[in-house]
Amino acid sequence: MIAATILIVDDDERHRQTLGILVRSLGHQDVVVADVAAAKAVLAQRDVDLVISDLRMPGGSGLDVLDAVRRTSSETPVIVLTAYGTVETAVQAMQNGAFDYIQKPFEAVEMELRIERALTVRRYRLENDYLREESAAQQGLDELIGVSPAIRRVFALVQQVAPSDASILITGETGTGKELVAHAIHRRSPRSEHLLVPVNLAAVPPDLVESELFGHVRGAFTGAIAERAGKFELAHEGTLFLDEIADFPLALQPKVLRVLQDGVVERVGANQRRAVDVRIISATSRELGAAVTAGTFRSDLYYRLRVIQIEMPPLRERRDDIRYLVAHFLRRFGGRRAGGVPKITEPALRLLEDYPWPGNVRELENVLERAVVLCTRDTLTTELLDLRPPDHHPPDDRPGLRLDDALDKLEREMILRALDETKQVKVRAARLLGVSERSLWYKLRKHGLG
Ligand SMILES: Nc1ncnc2c1ncn2[C@@H]1O[C@H](COP(=O)(O)OP(=O)(O)OP(=O)(O)O)[C@@H](O)[C@H]1O
Ligand SMILES: [Mg+2]
Repeated sequence: MIAATILIVDDDERHRQTLGILVRSLGHQDVVVADVAAAKAVLAQRDVDLVISDLRMPGGSGLDVLDAVRRTSSETPVIVLTAYGTVETAVQAMQNGAFDYIQKPFEAVEMELRIERALTVRRYRLENDYLREESAAQQGLDELIGVSPAIRRVFALVQQVAPSDASILITGETGTGKELVAHAIHRRSPRSEHLLVPVNLAAVPPDLVESELFGHVRGAFTGAIAERAGKFELAHEGTLFLDEIADFPLALQPKVLRVLQDGVVERVGANQRRAVDVRIISATSRELGAAVTAGTFRSDLYYRLRVIQIEMPPLRERRDDIRYLVAHFLRRFGGRRAGGVPKITEPALRLLEDYPWPGNVRELENVLERAVVLCTRDTLTTELLDLRPPDHHPPDDRPGLRLDDALDKLEREMILRALDETKQVKVRAARLLGVSERSLWYKLRKHGLG
C-alpha cells in the first residue's frame, strides 16, 4: 500500500500526539496542526490524502476545515472527531460532506479501521475518476485526450467543420497536437474513405516542393527518371495536409493558389492538366500573419487557406488535461511492460502539472516514455522525470557548458528528490539537504516549485 499523507487538526496537544503516533504506526505520514488557520495553510500548499479534524476548537470549528478541504480538493475525505454527546454537529458535518465521524474517546483499532476505509474509498474514487473522465475524453475525438474547456472548444470546432470542404488552418505552438487534429478532421469528413496525404514543407528541400506537390514527367529535371504523380493527385477526393505551411516557397505560392481556384494540376514538364478534388488542411507553428506582413507569404493564399482557423492552446494553458494525458501515455508506454502500467506518485504528478511545457504534449509524451523505460518499480517518482529547468538565458549562450546552469539543474533535482523522500514535508526536506527552511523556500521559488 502507498503511504498516505494525513492532516491532523486538533487543539488538544495530547490528542494530536496520540493521533500522530497512530497514523505513523500505520505507515502513513502525519502533518499535525493545532487550529483551523494552520490547517488552511497546509491545505493551500499541498495535497493531503485524508484529514482528521476535531470539531470544536477555539478560533474556528471542524466545519471550517471541512469547508476548506471541499474547496481545495473534492476527493480528500475528512473524518471529524466529536466529543461525547455532540452528535448533532457530527450529523451536520456529514451533511456538509464529511466522510465519517468518530466519537472521543476512541479505541485505536477503531480509528485505524476508519482511516483505512477512508483511504481505500479515496483511492477507489480517484481511480474511478480517471477512468470515467478518460472514457469521456476518449469519446471526444479518436486519440485526442483532454477535458479542459480550451480543448473542448477545439473538439467542438472539429466536429463542426469536418463535414464541410472548407480549408482549415491549424495554428499553435510545437507539439500541441496540430497533426492529430488534422487527422481527426479528415476521419470525420465525407472524404475519410480516401487518403489524407501529408506534406511537411519544412522537410522537403525548396526546389523539390514543386514536383512533390504537382508531380513530374520523366526527364522534367535532372533526377526525374520516371514519371511521378504529385501529392495533389494522390489526395484526390481526400485531404491534403500541408504541414509547416510558413515554409512554403514564395515563388510557388501562385501556382498552389491556381490549383485551389481551378481544381486542376499539371505535372512538372507536362502540358496535360488533370482535375483534382482536394480539401486542404494546413498547419503552422509560426505566426503566418507575420510572414504575410514580412512579405514571405502571399496574403491571397493566406486568406484562401485560413477559411477556418483552429488555434491549438498550449499545454500550460490547459493544465487540467495533464493528468489525463499522463494516464493515457502511461497506459500506452506501460502497456507491454513486464510490471504492467506503472502508477505515478502525487508529487510527480504535481510536478508535471506545474511545469511550463514549452514543447507541449510532445514533450510530455517524451518525458513519460523515458520515465517508463527507466522505471524499475511499479511507481513512477519525481527523480525519473527529466524536466528541463525554465530557460532564462538567451539562446546564443551555450547551456551545456555553463557552470551555473549545471549547478541550477543539480540543485533542482536534489530538492525534488528530497521532497519526494520526505513526502513534501519541507522542514524535513530542508534538514535532509542541510539548508535552512528559509533557504529552501527561497530555492523553491527560484525553481518555480514554491
Ligand atoms: N490531445 C492529445 N491527446 C493525445 N495525444 C496528443 C494530444 N495532443 C498531442 N498529442 C501527441 O503529441 C505529439 C505531438 O502532436 P502533433 O504531432 O499533432 O503536434 P504538432 O502540433 O503537429 O507539433 P509540431 O508543430 O511540432 O509539428 C503526438 O505524438 C501526438 O500524438
Ligand atoms: Mg506537426
